[in-house]
Amino acid sequence: MPLRSARSRSVPPDAVHHPLFARYYARFSTSAETRMGMARVRERLLAGLSGRVIEVGAGNGLNFAHYPGAVSEVVAIEPERSLRHMAVDAALRAQVPVDVAPGAAEALPVKSEAFDAAVVSLVLCSVRDVPRALGELRRVLRPGGELRFFEHGRGGGRVMTFTQRALDRTVWPALAGGCHVSRDPVAALRDAGFTLGPYRRMLMPENGPALPMSYCVLGTAWRPPGDDA
Ligand SMILES: C[S@@+](CC[C@H](N)C(=O)[O-])C[C@H]1O[C@@H](n2cnc3c(N)ncnc32)[C@H](O)[C@@H]1O
Repeated sequence: MPLRSARSRSVPPDAVHHPLFARYYARFSTSAETRMGMARVRERLLAGLSGRVIEVGAGNGLNFAHYPGAVSEVVAIEPERSLRHMAVDAALRAQVPVDVAPGAAEALPVKSEAFDAAVVSLVLCSVRDVPRALGELRRVLRPGGELRFFEHGRGGGRVMTFTQRALDRTVWPALAGGCHVSRDPVAALRDAGFTLGPYRRMLMPENGPALPMSYCVLGTAWRPPGDDA
């Protein structure tokens, strides 16, 4: 069992408390599965994974139904209490074993090098400390292990990036559960020492108007083999 006491880490497991956003997100994300094609994105995000997987910021557990049968176990970390309860329900319906646990990306309550793969979807926008969260993901992956990501961030032309920065400095994080729209997840992964694999930039929704949160990237990164960080 890879879980270790969350009390031994410096970030309390319920450090994220956004009950209103959680309720809104549960409704929005469920309808986005079909309406915005998110189910297809989740399928692509997780295709081909195998072995032991950690998913960080699992939300209401919408990825769980898409894990392939070759995955032997998913440890799903979710700090927001009400989303975590929904994730527990989703775990009961999943085809692969899923353990849902409290915790924060910046201090994962699991042993080092315990996982073959890690997954983040729409999470790096919300964590308080991106370098620390990515450092933790690198720590818990075995050397050569892969990180699958689907994230939104900076994009568009000058007016759009200006708007994104303005939103991040003002209302957006408070309205959207700590989310930021002007982060650059690919640069952050590179800075954190991951080796970038293939990634694809896309707009979500694919055919709608481009909004500040539409600029997404779906891809894979690796903890370098032989990395003894
Ligand atoms: C937009 S939701 C995405 C949920 C889910 N990953 C999905 O694909 O639908 C953002 C999630 O990140 C979680 N989160 C926010 N801050 C976090 C942190 N510091 N560590 C881990 N998860 C965090 C939130 O509680 C929420 O579940």
